[in-house]
Amino acid sequence: MPARKKARITGLGSYLPERVLSNADFEKMVDTTDEWIMSRTGMKERRIAAEDECTSDLGAKAAKLALKDAGLKASDIDFILVTTTTPDYLTPSTAALIQAKLGNKNAAAVDTEAACTGFLYALSMAKAYIESGMYKNILLVAAEKMSAFVDYEDRSTCVLFGDGASAAVVRDEGKGFYIDTVSLGADGTLAELIMIPAGGARHPATAKTVEERQHSFKMSGREVFKHAVRKMGAAAQGCLEQAKLVEDDISWIVPHQANERIIDAIATKFHLSNDRVYKTVHKYGNTSASSIGIALDELTRENSLKRGEHILLLAFGAGLTWGASIITKM
Ligand code: UT7
Repeated sequence: MPARKKARITGLGSYLPERVLSNADFEKMVDTTDEWIMSRTGMKERRIAAEDECTSDLGAKAAKLALKDAGLKASDIDFILVTTTTPDYLTPSTAALIQAKLGNKNAAAVDTEAACTGFLYALSMAKAYIESGMYKNILLVAAEKMSAFVDYEDRSTCVLFGDGASAAVVRDEGKGFYIDTVSLGADGTLAELIMIPAGGARHPATAKTVEERQHSFKMSGREVFKHAVRKMGAAAQGCLEQAKLVEDDISWIVPHQANERIIDAIATKFHLSNDRVYKTVHKYGNTSASSIGIALDELTRENSLKRGEHILLLAFGAGLTWGASIITKM
């Protein structure tokens, strides 16, 4: 019998647009202060894409870096799996647009949407496709142009989000990280806590929906905060049990970067010192689905991880959705 295939991440890449939007900039735009933003979120700056730079452009740039890191050409990829909350269009998919930008007509291409948990949902699909033998070389791209859906007159949400993209090559051979476990969850009864109310089939765009600013993110922040800490904690516990590991076996946590206070609460729960929790929230804000990939890419570039080190990835977002994954350095 042939050996069981084991999915692994063999290349990582990330891309952040150049333009910086700082807390000082927000002080001039809405009724807020650097002190409020820093103390409530840990955010100092975020990156904003240029007007003519869209989600597929950000994603394609991250994808090229991940391919280079994996030592593959675009033509080696047989499946492009994109996760985004902010697609270029409702249809066609952003994955199809990225396929065209990479110039690989042989790859199948699809989008999946799980908001800020998108990276982990896509990772679980890539793992399943690889381990079933259906595809050989998958390109996972998480890209977001959040600034296109942020209401820059709503101080309760506009300070939180930034643009960015990350990508990972997932295969069944090559060096990198084994994807040991992925554990996912969702609760659609809480869908209204984070949403873009209009622009979909329920409330198509009208002059009224535009006037009422219904085409941008609305969030009940305080409620979401409580669920985030609870659900990510439970997902992490489930993932550890599945992998037959305990808290002490984890050397790094790479969480979704929604709020430094959420990240710190999770670290405390797992008795992990702050310097083992990787953060980008201060410089990029919340980049939704792309945040975990960006943080993982930077973590691996800044630290020489040792073989056998376990990393816990954690995410939470609209849906509500949440998830955890353990990956292990090869
Ligand atoms: O990535 C998807 C998942 N998203 C999350 O996980 C986000 C989770 N939630 C959060 O991170 C936090 O709830 C926020 C950062 C969004 C808000 O922090 P908070 O401590 O929960 O504040 P709050 O919403 O309870 O608001 C407290 C006060 C309010 O004033 P009153 O009603 O107490 O007078 C707000 O109006 O702060 C006010 N406020 C602001 N003040 C200055 C809200 N936004 C701002 C602002 N500047 N930008």
